[in-house]
Amino acid sequence: MKKPINVVVVISGSGSNLQTLIDQAAAININITGVISNIASAYGLTRAAQANIPTQVVDHTQFSDRTAFDTALMVAIDSYQPDLVVLAGFMRILTPALTKHYTGRMLNIHPSLLPKYRGLHTHKRALEAGDKEHGATVHFVTEELDGGPNVIQAIVPVADSDTEASLMEKVQEKEHKIYPQAVAWFAEGNLKMEHNKAFLMGEMLPPTGKRLPNDSSLAGTKQANN
Ligand code: GRF
Repeated sequence: MKKPINVVVVISGSGSNLQTLIDQAAAININITGVISNIASAYGLTRAAQANIPTQVVDHTQFSDRTAFDTALMVAIDSYQPDLVVLAGFMRILTPALTKHYTGRMLNIHPSLLPKYRGLHTHKRALEAGDKEHGATVHFVTEELDGGPNVIQAIVPVADSDTEASLMEKVQEKEHKIYPQAVAWFAEGNLKMEHNKAFLMGEMLPPTGKRLPNDSSLAGTKQANN
């Protein structure tokens, strides 16, 4: 088996996506070398500490502007020597200097079927639009907010009875499948970004990214390759 890759996870909140990565780290061949939060009370920091993963808080309110914050954030991230940086519920907009520094090695998860509903309040917007399908997307991070090439999406059917809370729960359940999957592909060396496009095993992914079939659990190129 290949050497595990170093992954740094950057969070702002509960860290349920972080938890799935912690739980599956051995299976997907990653070593989470550090967890960084901009919020000191983020529960994800507790999850990391319970797993004996080093943590750091880089509090954005302590910096005069975005550039100063992002510079400190980069120093913190790089102190854990990441091969991959995983944004998991990190609620700050990043400067182009930072996104450029991590080009092709930074992923984000977003609670919508991108390119639909970039930014905030995605569940509310999907409900208000009367969408029959909603979901989650893992994408590479580029300068464009929630606009980098998609890696994988999972669809959630929207029921008439759904509320923002119920949709959020269903979407998160899917997030916990697609994020470890995307990270596993990256760890295997099968997922790459080139010229602003995502490639899986050398093949350019469609604009949606891969689609997780509705009833699928984690299954990847790793299993297929072995
Ligand atoms: C996720 O729904 C993610 O899509 C969004 O923030 C949420 C983070 O949840 N960007 P958690 O902190 O991983 O539980």
